[in-house]
Amino acid sequence: MAYENLLVDVSERIATVTFNRPKSLNALNPPTVRELGTAMEEISSREDVGVVLLTGSGEKAFIAGADISEMKAFTTMQALDFALLGQGVLSFIERMPQPVIGAINGFALGGGCEVAMACDLLVASDTARFGQPEVNLGIIPGYGGTQRLPRLVGRNLAKELVLTGEMISAQRAYEIGLVNKVVPAAELMNAAREIAKKILSRGPVAVRTAKMAMNRGLDLDLGNACALEASLFAAGFSTADRQEGIAAFLEKRKPAFTGR
Ligand code: CAA
Repeated sequence: MAYENLLVDVSERIATVTFNRPKSLNALNPPTVRELGTAMEEISSREDVGVVLLTGSGEKAFIAGADISEMKAFTTMQALDFALLGQGVLSFIERMPQPVIGAINGFALGGGCEVAMACDLLVASDTARFGQPEVNLGIIPGYGGTQRLPRLVGRNLAKELVLTGEMISAQRAYEIGLVNKVVPAAELMNAAREIAKKILSRGPVAVRTAKMAMNRGLDLDLGNACALEASLFAAGFSTADRQEGIAAFLEKRKPAFTGR
């Protein structure tokens, strides 16, 4: 399917979704967010896709946030709809079966930082900058920033970022645990693909259920989260992948997983 504001490419079981509104630094307007939801839904049901990469076109920005020129005329109810739209799409990304890797190629601000935080892990170019600058506009984050950021980096660092609206470098984002890896800009997509390929070589059902255990479990208290893990652990024993994975280990050979 062709999109107006996104590029979608699938190769070697990796889907790459690129935000493509370079004139506004890939800012998120409602049609772009709706397209993201449609694209991710379509990808989620594709058996030929095992990992998704999210990135931005151009060298400057991953996503510079919600589209400020379009927000200018929002009524209160339109703002509510816009927040719920984005939140729904980001929740879907967290719940879709395939791991989603953010390849952060530049500014990840406001809604851009929030999209990044909904990914399962992040690789950033050394030129990337992160922030929740909404207070500069007299508004607050609306795509989960006030909730995911404290869960990821801790309450006080999150408050510093959200209340001052200041940007941080990729290196600082790495230091506070917001990103997994920082690489030179020219190596970004290769570095992200390397991680994707490593994940693709593992048991597909196990990868899928491990993502589910972590993302769903983080919303539960520890007792219920561990109960969820135990159920998913047990369910894994009914799969061909576990028979193959354990047999391959014992026979000292590489597993040939089928994802069944
Ligand atoms: N929305 C719409 N247009 C944007 C934009 C945005 N979020 N960010 C940048 N642009 C546009 C600029 O208006 C400019 O357009 P023109 O060339 O037509 O003037 C173009 O992109 C290039 O931007 P700059 O000239 O500003 O580039 P710069 O290098 O000087 O600065 C920047 C880059 C620091 C990212 C700066 O553009 C900036 O601060 N952007 C806004 C960031 C922001 O506040 N994001 C949060 C939005 S609110 C939100 O996201 C709410 C939510 O939680 C969902």
